[in-house]
Amino acid sequence: MNLLIKGGHILDPSQGLDAIGDLYIVEGKITWVEPLKEKRPLGKFAVIPASGLLVCPGFVDLHCHLRQPGYEDKETIASGTRAAAKGGFTTLCCMPNTKPPVDSQAVVEYVQRTAHTEGVVRVYPIGCISKGLKGEELAEMGELAAAGVMAYSDDGQPVTSSRLMRHALEYSLAFGRPIIDHCEDKALSADGAMNEGWVATRLGLKGIPAAAEEAIVARDIALAELTGACLHIAHVSTAGSVDLLRRAKDKGLAVTAEVTPHHLTLTEERVMGFSTQTAHHTASALWYDTNAKVNPPLRSEKDRQALLEALKDDTIDAIATDHAPHTIVDKLCEFDAAAFGISGLETALGCLLSLVHSGQLDLKLLISKLTWEPVRILEIKKASLFPTSPLPWGLGTLQMGAPGDVTIFDPSKEWVVNPNTFASKGKNTPWAGCQLKGQVMATVVAGNLAYRDDSLRLEGQSA
Ligand code: DOR
Repeated sequence: MNLLIKGGHILDPSQGLDAIGDLYIVEGKITWVEPLKEKRPLGKFAVIPASGLLVCPGFVDLHCHLRQPGYEDKETIASGTRAAAKGGFTTLCCMPNTKPPVDSQAVVEYVQRTAHTEGVVRVYPIGCISKGLKGEELAEMGELAAAGVMAYSDDGQPVTSSRLMRHALEYSLAFGRPIIDHCEDKALSADGAMNEGWVATRLGLKGIPAAAEEAIVARDIALAELTGACLHIAHVSTAGSVDLLRRAKDKGLAVTAEVTPHHLTLTEERVMGFSTQTAHHTASALWYDTNAKVNPPLRSEKDRQALLEALKDDTIDAIATDHAPHTIVDKLCEFDAAAFGISGLETALGCLLSLVHSGQLDLKLLISKLTWEPVRILEIKKASLFPTSPLPWGLGTLQMGAPGDVTIFDPSKEWVVNPNTFASKGKNTPWAGCQLKGQVMATVVAGNLAYRDDSLRLEGQSA
């Protein structure tokens, strides 16, 4: 069915579009955006009344964990993509730390096939850097590129061997895909469970120093300079990493970076059960909350401020969720024993909008960091030696002819986070019980409704 999204506030940073108008999707493609002076398409349309709502390109997540194959108790491609649609994401790049890991053509094809038959949004797998994520030997990077991976990463684990990392960067040039690194010096972070600082001391937990991240960010930047390869730093969490990235960008290196919604909105105090941002108290300050255990850990307010500044001055290119669903059993235990990770797809928009509502972030910048910017990180690679990027043209934009991927949200609608209503199997959220302002009303993928809020009624119309 062709769609007419009527009377919404259309915001498309890719073409500087910021206007009230109508958006037409015909046969799965963006066909007409008011106020463009083209001829309106004729025919029958299902109408989404969007007055008072924001209409923007579908969100693109460079970094999430769908857990299939192997950890279907935590998430499946079916449940993870439904969570994505509910959160406004139309494209997901999923990390390869599954069981088996995505280190062969067979596993890439399994993920692609399952996403095709069971998923409701676009899914692009990321392949391993090392075989079996063991950090010993390079994965078959050519085979993975030919099978259609978007990038390479051992996410969840750093690439400890600098020599292996150098070789991975060198080979990645030939295959035109970026290397995404989870930057963590394991010798420094060893057994740490949260940020090293006063909260860890008070709770009697072993800390992970900022230097554990920064040491590897510095190493990786040096290797990116040596090899000329495209390096993307995952989930940046410290002010020191931001300084290193700023210098790398000043030098003109092909280095990009992402930050998560949780590192932008929460700090280490949240581990004690309260947040500086939401003033929401989920537990006594003498208690801890394993739902706030994440890797890299939630850091200090100084770090959070540095991340925000870096997002604004483009030192950090994109926002990525690092959606990391876990079972109740993985989290309902001692802090040291709990799994790292936050189930983030369904709360990303609401908690990022809290930064907009409080005047800390500009709405257009936020939308750009969720749509156009993540695509640009992947698209640079299209110009590289291996021309066959699996990413179709036109994601992250509402340009004419682009795939009809659109997110429609109400920036003022307030809702209370109830993990029991999540589409994700992962109920592990530090925002449980929090009131967020801003909710997705509909998510459209290739002209099809992947998600619709119950309160949104469609109307039929002949145009
Ligand atoms: O908190 C995290 N969880 N950080 C990671 O890097 C991996 C992820 C996971 O796979 O659970």
